[in-house]
Amino acid sequence: MRFPESAARLASTRVMPARPVPSLVDDVRAGLLSPPRRLPPKYFYDDHGSRLFEAICETPEYYPSRAEAALLAEHGVDIIEATRPEHLLELGSGSSRKTRHLFDACDRLGAACTYWPFDVSAQMMLDAGTALADDYPWLDVHALIGDYTGGLAGVSLPEAGRRLIVFLGGTLGNFEPADAQAMLEEIAALMRGDDALLLGLDRVKDRGRLEAAYDDAQGITAEFNRNVLSVLNRELDADFPVADYRHRAVFDAEHARIEMRLVAERGHRVSLGALDETIAIDAGEEIVTEFSHKFTPASIQRLLARAGLKLDAHFEAGDGDYSLLIARRAA
Ligand code: SAH
Ligand code: AVI
Repeated sequence: MRFPESAARLASTRVMPARPVPSLVDDVRAGLLSPPRRLPPKYFYDDHGSRLFEAICETPEYYPSRAEAALLAEHGVDIIEATRPEHLLELGSGSSRKTRHLFDACDRLGAACTYWPFDVSAQMMLDAGTALADDYPWLDVHALIGDYTGGLAGVSLPEAGRRLIVFLGGTLGNFEPADAQAMLEEIAALMRGDDALLLGLDRVKDRGRLEAAYDDAQGITAEFNRNVLSVLNRELDADFPVADYRHRAVFDAEHARIEMRLVAERGHRVSLGALDETIAIDAGEEIVTEFSHKFTPASIQRLLARAGLKLDAHFEAGDGDYSLLIARRAA
């Protein structure tokens, strides 16, 4: 069988937000002007930040990516057999590196599908889409550029055809609990009949391994964290002294989450040109840049049930290090 040239099998569209999404200026106004200071994690992922995330996945300490890749390699065929997708929508697809295990499984089973990666980092997604269309001659790639915090109602998949929605890497854990719940409900609203969700979630484990995973010895996670200040400097005509911030990752057992912070090593003033504001930051002050929630089998069950989903298959890495699960609509 002849397939169209790879360039003809790659398309891209922008997803219109279904509700207003705060701009960077709005987020900085709401989160940075006074303590407690906070930034949403999506601003990590400019081109440099996206590459740093890929490098984090290669560090010996950051186990989630390797654990998930191994589960996808081992169970990819089972997953594709159980879900038989005609449309595979992936949220926060990044480099799509691990998703290749699912396409390899499709290859083995002779099951073609259309891939709909959805990411805010357009360049990373388009580069990945180009390589995928080259490597899998039966794969149509329809890249969706946008911010999923604006909702999923603007994702217009064709009405016909079974859907598999994929959300890997534990990225749902980067949402606040109420937002994670709302996101799962939005995912459930895209699912009909025997459509399925493939969800990767990191698990609660000992503090030492968790904190090391978010503070690798090579300092790549520290650079990833500090890079968000370079994004602000560039996008907002600001002058954060990036090198004067120390990376800190702590596990908060009560909330079952890693908190990444940036700690100012000296007091300074920052000018935010685009906001026409100047802020004074004291030595030792912290900016919270990311939550990364960790789950237990019980908290996973609760999360799914509240979104009207039920667990269909659960693949676990190591001694419960990481969970990859298939969920379907409960009713
Ligand atoms: N799924 C990949 C990448 C995880 S990194 C993996 O498991 O390795 C998180 C990804 O989500 C990045 O590619 C980032 O650009 C994307 N992302 C983060 N916030 C987003 C948002 N609000 N809307 C869309 N994509 C987002
Ligand atoms: C994308 N997300 C699931 C990663 C995580 O583990 O929370 C982002 C990350 N932050 C630091 N290291 C990796």
